[in-house]
Amino acid sequence: MALRPDLYKVRNRPWPQPCPLFPDSFPAAVLNVPLREEADFAMNVGKRYAKIMSGAWARGLAWVARNPYPVSLTDDELTSLLLDTAIIRTVSDRLDPKDEPLFGEFVKSAPAGARFWKADYSAQSVLKLLPGMYAAPTIGLLRLDSGGKRSLAAIAVNNLVLRPEDGHAWRLAKFFLQQSFSQHITTCHHVALHFYFDTVNAVTKSLLPKDHPIRQLLTPHFRWSLALSESALYSGASVLSNRRIFPYTPFGAESSSIYLQTTFGCIGIEGNSCYPKYQWPEGETAILGEYGHYLRHFYRAILPFTSVVADMVPRHDSHVRLWADHIAEWVPGFPDGSRILEPGRLAHALAHTVWGTTVAHAADHYGLGVIAIGKLPYRLRLPPPASRDIPAFKDSDLCNKEDAFRHYLCWELFLRETTISRLVDVKYDFAPGAAAEAGKRFPQDLRAANASLPTREFIPLERISVSIQF
Ligand SMILES: [Fe+2]
Repeated sequence: MALRPDLYKVRNRPWPQPCPLFPDSFPAAVLNVPLREEADFAMNVGKRYAKIMSGAWARGLAWVARNPYPVSLTDDELTSLLLDTAIIRTVSDRLDPKDEPLFGEFVKSAPAGARFWKADYSAQSVLKLLPGMYAAPTIGLLRLDSGGKRSLAAIAVNNLVLRPEDGHAWRLAKFFLQQSFSQHITTCHHVALHFYFDTVNAVTKSLLPKDHPIRQLLTPHFRWSLALSESALYSGASVLSNRRIFPYTPFGAESSSIYLQTTFGCIGIEGNSCYPKYQWPEGETAILGEYGHYLRHFYRAILPFTSVVADMVPRHDSHVRLWADHIAEWVPGFPDGSRILEPGRLAHALAHTVWGTTVAHAADHYGLGVIAIGKLPYRLRLPPPASRDIPAFKDSDLCNKEDAFRHYLCWELFLRETTISRLVDVKYDFAPGAAAEAGKRFPQDLRAANASLPTREFIPLERISVSIQF
């Protein structure tokens, strides 16, 4: 039942199509971004990049001169980084059958009530490393005791299981774990937050009339995102290209393998709970830890607003059925036209879109942006431990000044949160009525939600962007 994408193209309307890089394992691409959107992106987001870049060289050189890179962490610090920050997106609350040979002994000998979680970065194995660089499939085993104590019980590097008592090998394994989650949160687990929304974005703009309440709700949350995605994925100057001619490319692997790693954030890895297959969530998202609580708290603050908007859509609305059918064709799990108007489904679909393009995306960037970048190295220049007994090494042998400088520039430009337009300033173009009233109230509702947080504030409310714009 697909509409003809070429028809939309000639009308200069955006429309999803199979991703040219990975048609079967990556979200649909939207390549025909309207010129006015490209221009808006260049005038605002592009200008921001240019402004940052003009001073970043000097700031980067000064930063490198003053700061250690990489930064070694105690076991407790590493455990906290995995469990108390946005990096928990990469963690699973269970072991898989494949982990038994590695960690079965730990489970058997653990005190009663202890639970085991894991931070599994097996997809490091797909990286084709640049000369002199190293990476390895790495799995961190986390033990959560019934009394509340949490510890990093083991790290498996290339299937070599290391324990805290393993001296230099343990210390080196921790760096490989840090490298693994740094790479994964950037090029794997955060990916779904960007690119599945592009389909919702394009179909909404191309299919729904301008005065449709769904389009009026979502339009502010889609500004700049299509051009950003196009640039991030397909521009020759993208950070993912990892062309060394660009000083902001920080990775230690060839571009094609980095792109390949992104696909595991979408299709997952069978039998590995740290790589779930992407599924559009119909309701709250199951993210672990305090970070998950924080994100769900905001989801609950957004849902009443989107419920008001969903209630304005008549049950016989043919636009919304067609809209849902076309999105469902590209986004796994999105309710199609036969289901979208069942009770609650549209409100949740809209809530997930607003939440994902605002709070959830911005909190990831802010949370990673406030971690010292030396704790998240991308490039390592010593081989991973091959036995439990290895000679001493110096942290400074692992990375050089160029590695630190590249990472710094990447952090300034792409990794940290750099909001241009804020969620708390959002304005909707609803016709007078219930949705308009709810839209006007929405910033106050967000402030009330932020004032009643049951967790720490993972990003200041004023720093949350209204759309995916970095
Ligand atoms: Fe992002």
